[in-house]
Amino acid sequence: MDFYRILEKVVSGKFADTGEIATLLAPPDETAEKALFDAAYQLKCEICGRMVNLRGLIEFSNICTRDCFYCGIRKSNGKVTRYRMSENEIVSAAEKALEFGYGSVVLQSGERSDEEFAGFVERVVGKISALAPGFGITLSCGEESLDTYRRWREAGATRYLLRIESSSEKIFNAIHPAEALFSERKAALKRLQQAGFQTGSGVMIGLPGQTLKDLAADIAFFRDMDLDMIGMGPYLPQTDTPLGQQYPDSGNMAEQRLQLSLRMIAVTRLVLRDVNIAATTALQTIDPAQGRERGILAGANVIMPNVGDVAFRRDYQLYNGKPSLDENSLSIRENLIRSLAAIGEAPRFNSAGDPLHFFRRTGSGK
Ligand code: 5AD
Repeated sequence: MDFYRILEKVVSGKFADTGEIATLLAPPDETAEKALFDAAYQLKCEICGRMVNLRGLIEFSNICTRDCFYCGIRKSNGKVTRYRMSENEIVSAAEKALEFGYGSVVLQSGERSDEEFAGFVERVVGKISALAPGFGITLSCGEESLDTYRRWREAGATRYLLRIESSSEKIFNAIHPAEALFSERKAALKRLQQAGFQTGSGVMIGLPGQTLKDLAADIAFFRDMDLDMIGMGPYLPQTDTPLGQQYPDSGNMAEQRLQLSLRMIAVTRLVLRDVNIAATTALQTIDPAQGRERGILAGANVIMPNVGDVAFRRDYQLYNGKPSLDENSLSIRENLIRSLAAIGEAPRFNSAGDPLHFFRRTGSGK
């Protein structure tokens, strides 16, 4: 059957075109789906063992100048209380991540492109990178100029996440206001690579109007862009957003999106191989007990546990149903260790967990 022939082909490292990738995203039955997940998990284990790289997630500000139709912290959502953590609060959260043995942090925020913000992030990154040699710093703060990216890179951040959201320009335009340009998003990803960042991107899965062919094209896009890291997850309608209101969920749509997301993870692992792939919070939102663990078993190798203060958690809800709203970071850590042990996995403590792909792409040591 076509499916198994193509699966064998990608497992052996051969090139698959978009049509073949789409076939892999639709296994004919449960046995075929299991074969897909098993092959992806085996490759994940070959690349990084039965270990998961952790990044402490610090959602340091929900102030945003963008108005993305799907996102709960879009600027027009007046129901959100806006906050920005202080420099000291952010550095303390990073110290906690370090103490917890997470080996790296992700600083994520709403998007702002003013000088005050650029300088603020630059200072905070400088302070965090002085905490310990080799401690990894990832930024996820949106589209910026090459100059700003360079400043943040020089201050000590080594990785950057900027999702393309969908590699279909048509879908991208349907979920963003007119001032958001697909070409600009793509150019920003190139600027990140130019500035020397390990560069990550990703998409939302199960967007209105999105087909398997679109998702297959997303994976081909990741490959064409030579990305080092992938973060993707199910789209979750947010009730205070235009997209969430226009297309409310019905039936078992969430479960279907979760399943499709797991397939996306597995196929992305098989096609891109040595990249870091995150099992995202959105998976956990649909299946609180097992979502991220199912992501690992489908080939993901990164989890980003929250290390921020519970006080800010409620105001950083990109979608409804965000898990662990009241759970402190210590308890999150303990539960994560326990649930990983239950699937025979363990955190890789005290390691920055760099993606092998970056060193191959840039020819730098390691
Ligand atoms: N559902 C799922 N993911 C979302 N994001 C934002 N809003 C939603 C939503 N409603 C994702 C986007 C963004 C990342 C930070 O969160 O992909 O890039």
